[in-house]
Amino acid sequence: SLEYSLRPKVLQEYIGQEQVKNNLKIFIEAAKMRNETLDHVLLYGPPGLGKTTLAAIIANEMGVRLRTTSGPAIERPGDLAAILTALEPGDVLFIDEIHRLPRAVEEVLYPAMEDYCLDIVIGKGQTARSIRLELPPFTLVGATTRAGALSAPLRDRFGVLSRLEYYRPEQLAQIVTRAASLLEVAIEEKAAVEIAKRSRGTPRIANRLLRRVRDFAQVKGDGTITAVLANEALELLQVDRLGLDHIDHKLLQAMIEKFRGGPVGVETIAATIGEEAQTIEDVYEPYLLQIGFLQRTPRGRIVTSAAYRHFGMEEPK
Ligand code: ADE
Repeated sequence: SLEYSLRPKVLQEYIGQEQVKNNLKIFIEAAKMRNETLDHVLLYGPPGLGKTTLAAIIANEMGVRLRTTSGPAIERPGDLAAILTALEPGDVLFIDEIHRLPRAVEEVLYPAMEDYCLDIVIGKGQTARSIRLELPPFTLVGATTRAGALSAPLRDRFGVLSRLEYYRPEQLAQIVTRAASLLEVAIEEKAAVEIAKRSRGTPRIANRLLRRVRDFAQVKGDGTITAVLANEALELLQVDRLGLDHIDHKLLQAMIEKFRGGPVGVETIAATIGEEAQTIEDVYEPYLLQIGFLQRTPRGRIVTSAAYRHFGMEEPK
């Protein structure tokens, strides 16, 4: 479908993440020259930057199948055993949110990654014994928003560690222009730039805003996404000039109004605004830290002068 085809399928079409891309290109080419499977790859960084897309590209470039699952979906060692024994030689197994794999499952994964084998315990108590199954060689691509949450033994078993960075506005504008062309909608360069600036460095957000702005252009205009229409639509979508949404606002304003700008702990902020602390840490904080609106200190988070200026507020003395 049109929807699916927004994702680039080859590295050549993938915009941004130059360092990650250049490295992967070499590792893929080398593995292919040697007729080997690619080493296991860990992709980490904030959500929405293209980890799933890269996993699909890796499989496609290697000419193998992609099998997809996630940490929380694999509850027991047997679940993982079922997935691993169904692999074909060379397959890419993509495990999203790999930091959420249960400990007992992780332990089955170690020998699978290291020696392509599976140790299964059969029976219970006195009669229990372990048998070793051989697996086809495969490439594990793990994705996580928090590399630090991975156990050291798991992290150490990846041969390639790639950190994805927030995209620059020019790159996001390119991504928006490319997506508009795939969606067969006309867009002014200035409109693409405006959407890019308000997408928090994140292609997933850029593409979502593009779709919503396209709806406005279709209903309120003649279908072309002009800069004027884009700005109006983004205003109505409550995405501010820096791409901050109402949750970012709520978070910063609660810190300013209830805690004089901090320092305040993330659990306290979470309770105050009714969001999960983990969601704040994984989704909201990274971008606010990146644009310098928040700082982490040993005593908690603090709101910076730049954030006060953005809201047109006086900083307490
Ligand atoms: N769509 C989403 N992310 C993309 C990227 N990095 N390059 C091209 N198109 C994309």
